[in-house]
Amino acid sequence: MTSPRHALPVAVLISGRGSNLQAIIDAVRAGALDVNICLVLSNRAEAQGLERARAAGIPTAVLTPATPADRAAYDRALRERIDASGARLIVLAGFMRVLTPEFVRHYDGRLINIHPSLLPAFTGLHTHRRALAAGVAEHGASVHFVTEELDGGPVILRARVAVLAGDDEHTLADRVHRVEHHILPLTIRWYAAGRLRKDGDRVRFDGRTLDAPLDLADLPADDGAA
Ligand code: GAR
Repeated sequence: MTSPRHALPVAVLISGRGSNLQAIIDAVRAGALDVNICLVLSNRAEAQGLERARAAGIPTAVLTPATPADRAAYDRALRERIDASGARLIVLAGFMRVLTPEFVRHYDGRLINIHPSLLPAFTGLHTHRRALAAGVAEHGASVHFVTEELDGGPVILRARVAVLAGDDEHTLADRVHRVEHHILPLTIRWYAAGRLRKDGDRVRFDGRTLDAPLDLADLPADDGAA
């Protein structure tokens, strides 16, 4: 994928469908996101997202765990591969592995994740099912800086969706996915523009420390779409 030389090199880590990766690719193509996707890496060879990357001419890598239990060895290999790509921002876009503290510390402030819930609610897996079971009126997605605490790092931006009567796990997941495809490219755009950084356990955006995560619905129109 052709991008200007000065563009921020970004590695995207995936495990499956890659619809968030596609949203990033589409935003770059549309000229809305000035980054260079220098690597798409999957822990699963059959991840559909790898096809999306290849179709866009992006270098891909597959790193399957040789010894699934040895997280430290896997994460060392992962770090080598990412660092060799020259990436300066690492985006977890449906990368379904728990990362070691060493890995997370190495990329402190340069590692973001998209999670399918309004964090801090529903960390972990099966978030849509659990949101329905809990009877919440609102659900959504969050982009956050990654820390050693699983799904616990400072939240940058959230997008809400209403839970509708008759929703099942799939209808709700579809609506959440649609907002994910807005907030992930948008967050990357802010980061690439130098508007966003991690400051300890907090988020700094446009030079001020956030008291609460940003909300897609509250953004000015010129910030609302990537
Ligand atoms: C997304 O819904 C993302 O939020 C979720 O995986 C999905 C990947 O979809 N991530 C997590 O659950 C991480 N804890 P995609 O492959 O179509 O982008």
